[in-house]
Amino acid sequence: MNSDNDLQIAGDILEVPHLLQPPREHPATVAEFAGLARSIAADRDQWAHLVRFDATTRWYHRLRTGPGYEVWLLSWLPGQGSGRHDHGPSSGVLTVVEGTLTEHTVRGTRALGAGAQRVFAPGYVHEVVNDALEPAVSLHVYHPGLTEMPMHTSPHCEAPSVTA
Ligand SMILES: [Fe+2]
Repeated sequence: MNSDNDLQIAGDILEVPHLLQPPREHPATVAEFAGLARSIAADRDQWAHLVRFDATTRWYHRLRTGPGYEVWLLSWLPGQGSGRHDHGPSSGVLTVVEGTLTEHTVRGTRALGAGAQRVFAPGYVHEVVNDALEPAVSLHVYHPGLTEMPMHTSPHCEAPSVTA
């Protein structure tokens, strides 16, 4: 703010639409992607009826796409896991919406209960498993959309880690 600037708006600012930022239709920042995931998670009518559990293969469903991002719904029966992988050039937000998942990284293991969120940068390597006795459901926002998910066989992967 320049204190020498004595420009003032006279009258009703709402009548000057070009001065107002239109509400953003799509998220564009990490915080907005995390917020999008939280708002979808809280609105079960958007996704609960879509969830399937499949004992023979991992179930996933693309819930939404937007410019530069995708939202996926995943289900995890007890014992099901992702294998160790990264997300290619995508960063992402993982949000647990039901049950508990366990995330393994080179830095250790953490339990992610319902409501937990993990934000990760491109190149982040992890393995997600349902070690619990109850099924779990998670919501994943990828930015940009997930184009590859390279699998890692070595447990000793170097990768940057971002936590939220
Ligand atoms: Fe992942």
